Amino acid sequence: MDLNPKKVTELLICLFALIISPKSFSTRSNTCVSLIPDCLLEVFSYLKDDRRTLVSCMRVNRLWCSLIAPILWSAPFKRYSLKYTPKVINTYVSLLSVKNKKFLKSLGLMIPLHTASPLLYYPKYLEVFNIVNYTVAMKEWVRNNFYFANKGWHISRAQKTLDSMMMDLIINHSSSLKKFKYVNNSEFSRADFLEKLCYSDLSLINTLEFLGHGYSHEMYFTTLPKLFRQMSKTTRNIKHLSFYFPETSVDSKLFQSPNSLMYHNQSVKDPTELDLSVAELIRSQNSLKSFCTNEFWMQCSTDLIFSSLLSHSNSLEFIKFFTLIHFDQTFFHYMKKINSLRTLEFKQFPSSSNLSQLIVPQNYLPQVQNVHCDERDVFKQVNTILRLVDHSLKKFYFRDANSVIFSTIELYCPNITHLHISLKDESIASSLNVIRKLPLISLYLDTIYYHSRSIESLLPSTLQYFGLGGSVYQYDIEQILVNAYLPNLSTMEILNLYNTNESIRKIFIKFSERFNHRLKELKLGKSLLREFISLDKKELWNTRSFKISEVRFFKYGVYEDIFGYPFYKSSEG
Ligand SMILES: *[C@@H]1O[C@H](CO)[C@@H](O)[C@H](O)[C@H]1NC(C)=O
Ligand SMILES: *[C@@H]1O[C@H](CO)[C@@H](O)[C@H](O)[C@H]1NC(C)=O
Ligand SMILES: *[C@@H]1O[C@H](CO)[C@@H](O)[C@H](O)[C@H]1NC(C)=O
Ligand SMILES: *[C@@H]1O[C@H](CO)[C@@H](O)[C@H](O)[C@H]1NC(C)=O
Ligand SMILES: *[C@@H]1O[C@H](CO)[C@@H](O)[C@H](O)[C@H]1NC(C)=O
Ligand SMILES: *[C@@H]1O[C@H](CO)[C@@H](O)[C@H](O)[C@H]1NC(C)=O
Ligand SMILES: *[C@@H]1O[C@H](CO)[C@@H](O)[C@H](O)[C@H]1NC(C)=O
Ligand SMILES: *[C@@H]1O[C@H](CO)[C@@H](O)[C@H](O)[C@H]1NC(C)=O
Repeated sequence: MDLNPKKVTELLICLFALIISPKSFSTRSNTCVSLIPDCLLEVFSYLKDDRRTLVSCMRVNRLWCSLIAPILWSAPFKRYSLKYTPKVINTYVSLLSVKNKKFLKSLGLMIPLHTASPLLYYPKYLEVFNIVNYTVAMKEWVRNNFYFANKGWHISRAQKTLDSMMMDLIINHSSSLKKFKYVNNSEFSRADFLEKLCYSDLSLINTLEFLGHGYSHEMYFTTLPKLFRQMSKTTRNIKHLSFYFPETSVDSKLFQSPNSLMYHNQSVKDPTELDLSVAELIRSQNSLKSFCTNEFWMQCSTDLIFSSLLSHSNSLEFIKFFTLIHFDQTFFHYMKKINSLRTLEFKQFPSSSNLSQLIVPQNYLPQVQNVHCDERDVFKQVNTILRLVDHSLKKFYFRDANSVIFSTIELYCPNITHLHISLKDESIASSLNVIRKLPLISLYLDTIYYHSRSIESLLPSTLQYFGLGGSVYQYDIEQILVNAYLPNLSTMEILNLYNTNESIRKIFIKFSERFNHRLKELKLGKSLLREFISLDKKELWNTRSFKISEVRFFKYGVYEDIFGYPFYKSSEG
C-alpha cells in the first residue's frame, strides 16, 4: 500500500468527516454546534500548506467550505506553481464585472463572459500579498490566454489592463491583509493603485515591506506621504516595517532623476513630506519589532526619524540599514537609546565620513547581541560596529572578514557563539587561532584557502553546527572529520567538494559512529547530494543514522527570515 502522508491525512480527515457529519451536527445542542466549527478550524489550519487535502475537504459541505475558503485563499500567491497559480488568476478573473470582462476580451484575451460566479468572494480572504509573486503569475496568465489572431492586439496592453482591474479587486476588499510586500514594477504604473490604497482598510497589517525603484516626483512628494499619513491613522499593528526609497541610492543609474541631489543637499533645512509621514507612521504603531530602511531622509530629518524609532525602544529588536550614509557619533547615540535592540544588519555605507576620526566608545551598545552583514568592501564600518558591541556580541555573520576583523574579535568579542564568515584573503591561519578561543556553537567558513591547512585541531569542541563553503577537497574533509574532536556536532553543511570518490559516504558515517551518532543532519550541495544518494542506494543495508538534505546557499543576513527574499537579490523580479 502506498503510504503517502498526504493520503493518510486525507483519509483521517474523511473519517473525521463521517464522525461529525452534518446530520448529527444539526440535531445537537447549541454548545456543540459552536464547538465543532472551532475544532474543525483548528484541524484545517494545520493543513494550510496541504492544498490538495483542503480542496477535497471543501467539497464535503457548506460549513466545511466556509471554514476552508479563508485558509485556502489567504495566501494564494505564496508559491508559484504551474498547476495552481493559473487557477488562482482564473478565479479572480471570474469575479470581474461583465463589462470589464468584455473589455479584456476586446484586447485579445480569452475570457468566458458568463460563468457561474464563485460561491464566495475570495479576494476578501487575502492575508499575504506579495506583489512580485502576483505580477509574475498575472503576466504568465495573460501570455497563456492571449489570441495572436489580430495584429493590433498587444500583450503588454492586456497585461496592464488586467493588472489594474485585479488591483482594484484586491484593494477594494483588502480588510484581511496582514502581510503586504510592495515593489514598484517599472512595467506597470501602480500610481493609481497607490492613490486608492489609502482608502482601503489596512488595519490588520502587521508586516509591511515597501520598496521601490525610480519613483516620480509626485509619488515622493504627494502620493506616498498621503498614503503613510492615512495609514498612521488607521493602522496600528505593524510589527515589521521595511522601507526602501531609492532616490538616495548610491547606484549611479538611479541618480539621474531631478530631485535625487536633494537628499544630499545639506542646505535643505526642512524635512520633506515623505520624512514627516514616515516618522508619523512609525510613531503611530503600537509596538514595532523590526525596522529596515535606507537612509532616504534629508540630513535635517535625522532626529525626526530616529526619535520616532525611540518610541519603540522597548520592542524594537531588529534594525537593518540598506544604506547608511551618516555613520557617525549621532547614529551611535540613537542606537544606544533603543534598549530592546538585539540585532543589527547592514548592507551599504556610501559615506565618505572619516572613520579614523570617530571616537568609538567601548562596550557602547551592550544590548546588541547579533551583527549581520552580507556585503563586501565594508569591513571598516563593520569593524567599528564590532568594537561598539564588544563583549555582548553573540552572533556575527559577515561575508567579508579579514585579519583586521579577526584581531578586533580577539581583543573585543570573546563571547561569540555563532560565527559565520567568508574570508577572501590568506588570513585564515591567524583567524583560526582566534576561532579556537571562542565558545562557538555554530561555525560557517567560506574560503578558498583550506587546502593543506590543518584546521581540524583548531575547531572548538563545543561546535554543534559546522558549515563549509568555498573550495574543499574530499581529502581535506576527511582529515577534518578523522582528526577533529567534535562530540556535540549535530548538523554539518557542505556546499561543494572536489576530487570526490566513492568513499565520500563512509567518511561521514565513520564520523557519526565515532561520536555516538550525535550527527543528526548532513546538508549537501545539489550535486553532492545526488552523489551521496546514489551511493546510499548501492549499500545493501542501512548504515547511516543521520538525515541528508539539500543546502543551496548560505545566508549572512536575517532579513529574509522576516520579510522573504530582499529586492536586491537577483532571483526575484
Ligand atoms: C514568493 O515566491 C517565492 C518563490 O516562489 C516564495 O519563495 C516566496 O515565499 C513567495 N513570497 C510570498 C510572500 O508569497
Ligand atoms: C472598487 O471600488 C471602486 C470605488 O468604490 C469602484 O468604483 C470599483 O468599481 C470597484 N472595483 C471592483 C473591481 O470591485
Ligand atoms: C516605477 O518606476 C518607474 C521607473 O523605473 C517609474 O517610471 C514609475 O512611475 C514608477 N511607478 C510608480 C508607481 O511610481
Ligand atoms: C540645495 O538646497 C538649496 C536650498 O533649498 C538650493 O538653493 C540649492 O540649489 C540646492 N542645491 C542643489 C545642488 O540642489
Ligand atoms: C581622517 O582623519 C585623520 C585624523 O584626523 C587624518 O589624518 C586623515 O587624513 C583623514 N582622512 C581623510 C580621507 O579625510
Ligand atoms: C563575556 O566574557 C567575559 C569574559 O571574557 C565575561 O566576563 C562576561 O560576563 C561575558 N559577557 C556575556 C554577556 O556573556
Ligand atoms: C556537549 O554537550 C553536553 C550537553 O549536551 C555538555 O555537557 C558537554 O560539555 C558538551 N561537550 C563539549 C565538548 O562542549
Ligand atoms: C578516495 O579519495 C581519498 C582521498 O580523498 C583517497 O585517500 C582514497 O584512496 C580514494 N579511494 C579510492 C577508492 O580511490
